[in-house]
Amino acid sequence: MLLVILLTLTHICHSTTVNSGSHHFLRLPLRHINPHQSPTEAIFADSARLSTLLSALHRKPNLPVTSGAYAGAGQYFVTLHLGSPPQPLLLIADTGSDLIWVTCSACRSNCSATRPPHTAFLARHSTTYCPHHCFDPACRLVPHPRPEVRCNRTRLHSSCRYEYSYADGSITNGFFAKETTSFNSSSGRLLQHGGLAFGCGFKISGPSVSGPGFHGAQGVMGLGRGPISFVTQIGRRFGNKFSYCLQDYTIIPPPTSYLLIGTGAGNSRMRYTPLQTSPLSSPFYYIGIQNVYVDNVRLRVSPSVWSLDKSGNGGTIVDSGTTLTFLPDAAYRHVLAAFRRRVKLATADGSPPNFDLCYNVSGVERPRVPRLSFELVGNSRFTPPVGNYFIDTAEDVKCFALQPVTSPDGFSVIGNLMQQGFLFEFDIGRSRLGFSRTGCSRS
Ligand SMILES: *[C@@H]1O[C@H](CO)[C@@H](O)[C@H](O)[C@H]1NC(C)=O
Ligand SMILES: *[C@@H]1O[C@H](CO)[C@@H](O)[C@H](O)[C@H]1NC(C)=O
Ligand SMILES: *[C@@H]1O[C@H](CO)[C@@H](O)[C@H](O)[C@H]1NC(C)=O
Ligand SMILES: *[C@@H]1O[C@H](CO)[C@@H](O)[C@H](O)[C@H]1NC(C)=O
Repeated sequence: MLLVILLTLTHICHSTTVNSGSHHFLRLPLRHINPHQSPTEAIFADSARLSTLLSALHRKPNLPVTSGAYAGAGQYFVTLHLGSPPQPLLLIADTGSDLIWVTCSACRSNCSATRPPHTAFLARHSTTYCPHHCFDPACRLVPHPRPEVRCNRTRLHSSCRYEYSYADGSITNGFFAKETTSFNSSSGRLLQHGGLAFGCGFKISGPSVSGPGFHGAQGVMGLGRGPISFVTQIGRRFGNKFSYCLQDYTIIPPPTSYLLIGTGAGNSRMRYTPLQTSPLSSPFYYIGIQNVYVDNVRLRVSPSVWSLDKSGNGGTIVDSGTTLTFLPDAAYRHVLAAFRRRVKLATADGSPPNFDLCYNVSGVERPRVPRLSFELVGNSRFTPPVGNYFIDTAEDVKCFALQPVTSPDGFSVIGNLMQQGFLFEFDIGRSRLGFSRTGCSRS
């Protein structure tokens, strides 16, 4: 029955006219979803996310590995305007996956009775909505529901179906389609881009992608490295680059963070490290850590601990959808021991579970905390501010917020908290990641 309703949604697609012109970048505000998330909630959500990323990475080889897929800890919202006329939709900005998908509705009239405005993309209210045909090469870029429906290339209404499953059993299932998307350009003009491939999700269930765990978002904007990601599709017009600066969201009122597609944010103080490629064609942005320092003292961690091996295990990814930072267990133990030796503060009573090191800073004006820094491939040093890894968990209690990677085939993650206050430039064209402590205010 559902299928019958959905199939009637397909129609002959009109070609879309799209304005062009030269634009250097698009600037989309990023909003932090959950400023009051407790550190324990963050750990819980992060573990769900990591198991999802890992299962997506080791997806069976006969399925296209096109997405790490979202789950759990998404923190930053971005608004995408989809359709003609444009419908605003709130999506989670995710560098750990590459599909763009939104909650769709086939509702034709009186839609607000069943769907509060802007809680779903109303495909029938757009003149430019167009499902890909199942025979279209683009359809091979997404995983299909099982059992797979045989594609009949001569039939007009054989739409491309997609299905993503998450590690916790959540799914998003629907049509892989094309739509026109609109932006306000940096010069204030309305800019349209036709034929953006996205998943129009009609069957969405599970804690990762619905309900409070999804924080009211209507989908995910995949910013990963695959052919169907938002940055790959849109970025072609903007020099294959995007950047963002995540501002400290504990500041009241929180400063706005921006996602910039295209050039425009770079600066001369930018340091670069090459993006590494995984043998599994994963959407993740891998970087190489060579050494870790605590107060400028290099820790004796074997370089192999950090490496991304030939089977795609290990390595380090930069992920906007994970809150905390995860290091390989062997490295984590060394860092923890170095901190334990150097911090001269009273330990806190009844520390929150899952944090190994918490201090009572009651009455301490400016607690002295060692500086952590990472030496990256390409001879660049990433030295985050202390607040990126030493966080308030209760009044007068500060905890060391790094976490160990427990899975043997797991990878390290530079989470969004560790990225705060830096301008990050994902230069896909030149396969490198730039970062700079200056430039956030201008981005
Ligand atoms: C839509 O709403 C109007 C006014 O509330 C009502 O008259 C009409 O029957 C509704 N149409 C449908 C299809 O429910
Ligand atoms: C494909 O669709 C056409 C037209 O509906 C039909 O005639 C044909 O038998 C179908 N082929 C298969 C293999 O189902
Ligand atoms: C462009 O900006 C105007 C005014 O701020 C706003 O109303 C409109 O929704 C924006 N459109 C898009 C596509 O972002
Ligand atoms: C922190 O220290 C103060 C003063 O010594 C004490 O009153 C408080 O209970 C301690 N809190 C924790 C969580 O250890």
